[in-house]
Parts: sequence; structure tokens; C-alpha cells
Amino acid sequence: MLNVGFIGWRGMVGSVLMARMLSENDFQGISPLFFTTSQVGQKPPDIGVELPPLKDAYDIETLAGMDVIMTCQGGDYTKSVYEKLRSTGWNGYWVDAASTLRMSDDSVIVLDPVNRSVIESALEQGTRNFIGGNCTVSLMLMAIGGLFKAGLIEWLTSMTYQAASGAGAKNMRELASQMAAIGKASEDLLSDPASAVQEIDRRVIGAMRDSTFPVDHFGVPLAGSVIPWIDSELESGQSKEEWKGSAETNKMLNNDPPIPIDGICVRIGAMRCHCQALTIKLTKRVPLDEIESIIAESNEWVRVVANTKEETMRQLTPAAVTGKLDVPVGRIRNLNIGPAYLTLYTVGDQLLWGAAEPVRRMLNILKGRLS
Ligand code: HSE
Repeated sequence: MLNVGFIGWRGMVGSVLMARMLSENDFQGISPLFFTTSQVGQKPPDIGVELPPLKDAYDIETLAGMDVIMTCQGGDYTKSVYEKLRSTGWNGYWVDAASTLRMSDDSVIVLDPVNRSVIESALEQGTRNFIGGNCTVSLMLMAIGGLFKAGLIEWLTSMTYQAASGAGAKNMRELASQMAAIGKASEDLLSDPASAVQEIDRRVIGAMRDSTFPVDHFGVPLAGSVIPWIDSELESGQSKEEWKGSAETNKMLNNDPPIPIDGICVRIGAMRCHCQALTIKLTKRVPLDEIESIIAESNEWVRVVANTKEETMRQLTPAAVTGKLDVPVGRIRNLNIGPAYLTLYTVGDQLLWGAAEPVRRMLNILKGRLS
């Protein structure tokens, strides 16, 4: 049986991965071993089978006994362990949710409903590193992978509305604390229907600008506001998140020459669903119903939402999509700018298709191939 070592299974992405693996029965047919960076010897998670106590995630010898290593521990762990492990001659499969190895020549960014053929040919050629993509990129490709495949995209811009979860568990908690602080500051006025809205507004902004407002992780208020910068600054004037949109998409699809992609990435006060408004310059005029069929038929999770107010409000929001594997795509129409300009809007759960699902499925591809 395939020996699979799990690292970082307790964190936010890791626990979503564990829950998905349990609900899909993915532990069947593999021999799992759980590692820890801080609790060596303690009890492993309950997955319904007897397991040895937790192993040390820095113990290279034990790691080297694995056929597959699946890590959601984060980039620092990958940096400190990956090279050491390979330098022992370990030739196993490294499956990782962190970005550290994504752009390396010897790794493939995985999103099998979209790039299964890229994954398969990499496996044939002996590639051993399979890395989950940036969440925004994966969610965009789940939504419009069909248009790329049909060769219909000349260029695109993506304006994003990204949830707190993309920044980490502490940021999700901070967003909820900010919401609570705002609610508390205006509570008495909200319960009085005769109170003036200007006073509510003053209390809200007063709370947001108060020195006690919780901003340790975001740096500034997110609740009641938006932050148009995600990740570090690049000399190009882009944020790193914006740069990834082009670099990762083109690598994932093996596009040569690359398709121009750029936009502005914005953090909004949603908990765990990213949204994106795309403007696409088509390579040719295509009737909208054909565009919709190409999108709808490209994988089993994408859902075309009718461009009506009612369906948009019911289906195309983080409130509707959180916790689901569905990737709705709506607001599909030609822009008035010209018939070759298409716009659309998509929403997806950042922790599912944006993080855990692509690496979970990669493990199953390896299981199918190596067992
Ligand atoms: N970098 C993304 C974000 C998440 O901050 O939303 C992960 O891919």
C-alpha cells in the first residue's frame, strides 16, 4: 500500500483536507502516517483505523520512508525540509498546498479538472512535485477553463474580491472581531428605530478608527471597508497576488506564448469565498449561448447562472457558495465596448477548490497510478 505522510493536517487548509478525505473515503487503500512540527508522540487524528503516534515532521529519515508526502504546513516548512529530503536521494512524490515550489521547473501546478493532461504528461516524464495553485487562479480556472481550452481568450483582466481566509485563520478571526466591535459600538442605536443614521455612521467609523479596533493581522480595518492590496509589492507596481494571476495560469495550462492576464486584487470582508469580475477579450465573436455551453460543459462543478437580478442574488454570493464545491459563473454578457469583449463574475470557496480539493485529488491520481 502507498505510504502517505501527512504534515499540517491540523491547520485551516489541512483540516478541510482531512474532512474532505474522510467524506470521500480517501484513506482507504493508503497507509497514512501523521507528522507534527510540535507534538511528537501524541495521538494521531481519528480516521477510523489504528495509527502510530505522531512522528516528527523534521525527521528526514522517517519522511524518506514515504512514497508520498502531502503537506499543508505552509511555505516555511517546505523551505526547511524539501531540499534536505531530496538531497538524501528520496524520489517520492511531494504534494504541497504552499506556493514555495509552484514556479519551479520541476513542479506542476495541479488542478486536474482543468489541466489533467499536463499532470499526466508530467507523471510520464517523471515529475515528482505536484503543487496546489494560488486560490484565485484555481477558482478562475474552474470557472472559465473551458474558454481557455477552446482558444477563445486573447487577454483578460481579473478584478478580485478576496475573502479573509486567503490571508489565514488569524485573519478570519480578526475579521469577525472587527464586525463584533462595529456591532457593539452601534448596538443601542440599532435597537432604537428612531435613532438617526448619521449617528450610527459616526459610531461605526469611530469604532473603526479607535486605537482598540483589532487590526494586528490586516493592519487596517477590513470590516466596513476594503483593502486593495494583497501580498507583497513588486517593482512592476503589481501586488504579488496580481503577478500570480498571469504567471501561474500560464504555467498551469502550459501556454506558449503566455496569454496576457492582469488586474487588481482586493481583500473584502467575506469569510472564505473569493469572487472575481473578469473582462475577456475574445479571439473571435462567439454567440453568448455558445459561450455559456462551453463554460457549463468544462467540468462537473461549474454552474452557469442566468444573468438576472434574482438568480444573481440567490446564487452568486459568498453567502450562497460557502462550504460548497460548486463554482457558479454569472453576469455573462458582451460589454457595450464591443462584441468581442465578454464580462462575467464568478464565486468559489477559497478553502475547497482554492486550496484543499486540488491536492486531495492529486493524491487520488497518485493512488490510482501507484497502487
Ligand atoms: N493569496 C491568496 C489570498 C490565497 O491572499 O487570498 C491563497 O492562494
